[in-house]
Amino acid sequence: MQSCSGFWAFAAIASNINTEEMIPKMNFNEMDIFVQKYEKNMEKNLHFLETNRQRFLDELIDWLKIPSVSVDSHFHADVLSAASFLAERLKEAGADRVEICPTDGNPVVYAEKIKGPDYPTVLVYGHYDVQPADPLELWDSPPFSPVIKDNKIFARGACDDKGQVYMHVKAFEMMNKTDSLPCNIKFIIEGEEETGSANLGPFVVAHKDKLKADIILVSDTGIIANDVPSVTVGLRGLSYLEVEVTGSNRDLHSGLYGGAVANPINVLCQMIASLKDADQHISIPGFYEDVEVLSQEERTEMGRAPFSLEVYKKELGINDVLGETGYTTLERTSIRPTLDVNGIWGGYIGEGAKTVLPSKAYAKISMRLVPHQSSEKITQLFKSYFESIAPDSVQVEVRPHHGGEAVVTPVDSIAFKAASLAMEKTFGKKPIPVRSGGSIPIIALFERELGLKSVLMGFGLDSDAIHSPNEHYGLFNFYKGIETIPYFYENYSKLKREEQK
Ligand code: BES
Ligand code: MN
Ligand code: MN
Repeated sequence: MQSCSGFWAFAAIASNINTEEMIPKMNFNEMDIFVQKYEKNMEKNLHFLETNRQRFLDELIDWLKIPSVSVDSHFHADVLSAASFLAERLKEAGADRVEICPTDGNPVVYAEKIKGPDYPTVLVYGHYDVQPADPLELWDSPPFSPVIKDNKIFARGACDDKGQVYMHVKAFEMMNKTDSLPCNIKFIIEGEEETGSANLGPFVVAHKDKLKADIILVSDTGIIANDVPSVTVGLRGLSYLEVEVTGSNRDLHSGLYGGAVANPINVLCQMIASLKDADQHISIPGFYEDVEVLSQEERTEMGRAPFSLEVYKKELGINDVLGETGYTTLERTSIRPTLDVNGIWGGYIGEGAKTVLPSKAYAKISMRLVPHQSSEKITQLFKSYFESIAPDSVQVEVRPHHGGEAVVTPVDSIAFKAASLAMEKTFGKKPIPVRSGGSIPIIALFERELGLKSVLMGFGLDSDAIHSPNEHYGLFNFYKGIETIPYFYENYSKLKREEQK
């Protein structure tokens, strides 16, 4: 394998796979031509990126100025204009068909560039909607007036997910301009991810033909650090609900009635407290029944990911962590399910004091789920248990919000290899496969309805403050993404063709 220089040499080292297995049908001549073409294309792309850096960033800044907050109907017009903005940019980037597809909620932006039936097809998924920006007072600069500081762009959606979607738009433009696109590309960019993708599911089911592809590529996750690249190979599922506890039929004077009538806030707190035991183990009967159990080897392997508990605690300003007994911090945030109260309210919260015994108390509660747990089943288990522990003195209503299933993506697939090789090429280091604690519910639905696996090649950092004040995205990460994506397409197309031979 002497002449196996350049690409295939690093490919072999990168993935610990036998080069001969990878390229069984290629003779040295073909291989030379391929390597030359590959490197020539990538050179052209890099040059294009270098000469267009500022424009790419300026365009992203303009997109980030549009407050496409999906959960709040006040922003509906902005959500639509963010969709149009994206559609326009995709058209300019070289898509030969762009559509803003209406749904019962926010539109889906669809675009495609089809080279022909003999090319593999990559479907790029992402979302143009963003989380609400509040609490506004905690932002150092307004969330929808992007600023560049310390080589980072600060704005709501900078990392999650407009900044990452825009890397794909620009990588696509770049490959069209340099005529180096090696596959068909379809984009499906939705506007309701942050509210649970309620209308994307039916859209996918209704447009299976349109969405036909070989693989889904997603940049809506992160890497461990800028010098420790990683590919996400798992996401947790989610079960989200709201509870309402009602006591008396009206607010009461807490002096006249306090001590005799149930206070729904007190009761709710007690009920919530009884959802976990002293080991932080969730007490809902049957909750752990279907939880995937990892072998000791798998856990040891996971434990190899670089992680410092001291740095972690320091970054978060905490003296200690708190989690399920018997598991490490990394395990607690990836392979174990959780239950958290996301919001709790009721009674008087205005200025000063008011001696009131409230009629109602509320909480939003979510559970992160792991492979094999069913979001619907967990929601039901929660509901039954929560209702069963309510004292007779109150009434309880449990209202499910949204949910989704966990996913694990295979590491022995050509798609994973293509991502791994792409990142190795641009970061100079082989990426580590990691399971993430976050959720993207539509990924499991894609697999179920379209029969397609996803590659989660995101470029964010945990410290990017997504969903928090001062969300930001590193310019390094933005440009690194644009640089890496074409390598994914090249590697994937090549490996796919080989697989089909
Ligand atoms: N992009 C995130 C999910 C994510 C972030 C996964 C970082 C892995 C690493 C996504 O936009 C998100 O916020 N998802 C929600 C779920 C959704 C149903 C609201 C989540 O995880 O809370
Ligand atoms: Mn996201
Ligand atoms: Mn998000």
